[in-house]
Amino acid sequence: RQFTHILGRTTLIALLSGTAAFIYVTQRERNPGPQLPHDPSKKTIVILGSGWGATSLLKTLDTTEYNVVVISPKNYFLFTPLLPSVALGTLSPRSILQPTRYLARHKSREVRVIEAEAKSVDPINKTVTFEDDSEIKGQTAHTTIPYDYLVYAVGAEVQTFGIPGVQEKACFMKEMADAEKMQRRFKDCIETAGFPGQSDSEIDRLLHVVVVGGGPTGIEVSGEIHDFLEDDLKSWYPELAGRVRISLVEALPSVLPMFSKQLIDYTESTFKASKIQVLTKTMVKEIKDDAVVLQMPDKSIQEVPCGMVVWAGGNKGRKITQDLMAQFPSVQTNRRGITVDDHLRMVGVPSSSIFAIGDCTSTSYAPTAQVASQQGAYLARVFTQIAKRDKLEGKLKELEDKKAMTLKEEEKTALVGEEEGVKGQIAKLKLRPFHYSHQGSLAYIGSDKAIADLPFLNGNIATGGVTTYLFWRSAYLSTLFSLRNRVLVANDWLITKIFGRDLSRD
Ligand code: FAD
Ligand code: NAI
Repeated sequence: RQFTHILGRTTLIALLSGTAAFIYVTQRERNPGPQLPHDPSKKTIVILGSGWGATSLLKTLDTTEYNVVVISPKNYFLFTPLLPSVALGTLSPRSILQPTRYLARHKSREVRVIEAEAKSVDPINKTVTFEDDSEIKGQTAHTTIPYDYLVYAVGAEVQTFGIPGVQEKACFMKEMADAEKMQRRFKDCIETAGFPGQSDSEIDRLLHVVVVGGGPTGIEVSGEIHDFLEDDLKSWYPELAGRVRISLVEALPSVLPMFSKQLIDYTESTFKASKIQVLTKTMVKEIKDDAVVLQMPDKSIQEVPCGMVVWAGGNKGRKITQDLMAQFPSVQTNRRGITVDDHLRMVGVPSSSIFAIGDCTSTSYAPTAQVASQQGAYLARVFTQIAKRDKLEGKLKELEDKKAMTLKEEEKTALVGEEEGVKGQIAKLKLRPFHYSHQGSLAYIGSDKAIADLPFLNGNIATGGVTTYLFWRSAYLSTLFSLRNRVLVANDWLITKIFGRDLSRD
């Protein structure tokens, strides 16, 4: 009895302290305190973008020593790894978005967040020009501001290779609007297939989904479509569900080239069991209103009827990035993106005033969230070092001026000693180059299974299955930037498990 009593009390104390901690954290997030205003004597950092690189920088940056301005056409951060789950209704859109102001309002000095699209950068005069591209525009919708440092983190856009029909007819999987469009379109295909009198061949066409690109995006989208089919469509559209077909088209000899061979095989066999047709060495040549034109491995051309095409064919640089690079034609020649040095400074830019991070750059790393966020956190440390160096250099200048004014020899000697001390401190402030630490690759492949390549000691552990799926979920839950998002995502997973996905189409 005594043991039960102690256990009961301990549980109660744990519950009460857990609730108190939860209330404290949420209230602190909810009610940000006052911030220091912008200070004209401080340097200004302009950050372009509110994605992985920019948000990680903002989260880690000590803004006490800087005036910070964030410019992005989206006033939020999008947690891309869970975007395919939104496209099929496993998660609600709001659950994976975090308004940038939530983060900005918690910084020590005010961070200005401007919803606008940067149109051009003048690296010589150190200015950036941006425009309000939203529906509602005020009298001023276009302006230019100066910067001391520019952090260029605008990401990339979808690579279409100029293939006819891709831009106009396919669904992408890059932005929130893409996921919402895909959801609407897929549900439309199903409802249209159920229209009375629809011919058999038309039903088969409408219910054929073609996913292009066997990279992680294409794989995750295919897996999510399969889950929707198994978990929900079979219950609510029993007459149609069995006729839904998913085809994954990949130009290379295998899917997921960045994963180890055994995980590629595991994914292919899981897809086979899930009846997802994988067509490798097959290239999409055109997308028509009601079909996709494929070049098969034997080079023959086939027109395959389908209701929807999801395009996950990779990344390419944005126009603003190409324009910026074109200002340094002799050094910025890499077509994949901006060339940066070991400290992420854009090569060729005078006075090292532009740093570039994430998918807009061309480095030896893959264009992933992991790389972009580590680069953002690294830059925050760089700016701390720069602020320290600036302060010491200011002090040195003061000492030099004082030395020039003083006539007494012993005072001069003391000042020289002080100067040497400050110089020593400056010499110690070395900026270490950026070093990427790979934490592993994870991907969801449907049927409650995930794959993971995890670095271990000097080797690698390749694992796949249901346990890896639980790991995948917990890894992404903990990576979400805020407690609010964690609660929302966990809640969505629970709701989907209990009630299934929402079938209504808006
Ligand atoms: P982004 O995160 O794309 O951010 C770019 C920002 O710039 C956006 O806020 C955008 O609105 C803004 N912007 C665009 N144009 C302008 C402009 N002209 N002016 C100002 N701002 C502008 N990586 C992983 O490591 N793990 C994963 O599981 C994973 N899953 C993914 C799933 C999907 C569906 C996708 C599409 C990608 C996934 N990635 C994943 C890749 C990852 O999302 C990218 O590598 C990462 O987003 C790159 O970060 P970034 O900051 O460079 O660009
Ligand atoms: P990707 O570049 O990795 O893959 C695109 C694929 O499309 C390529 O394999 C390419 O061969 C294929 N393709 C292109 N044109 C084609 C055509 N006409 N016909 C047939 N196939 C064609 O692009 P993805 O998957 O969007 O990933 C982009 C980046 O984001 C990568 O670095 C990836 O690692 C990262 N990412 C990581 C995820 C994860 O770790 N879970 C999830 C999603 C993306």
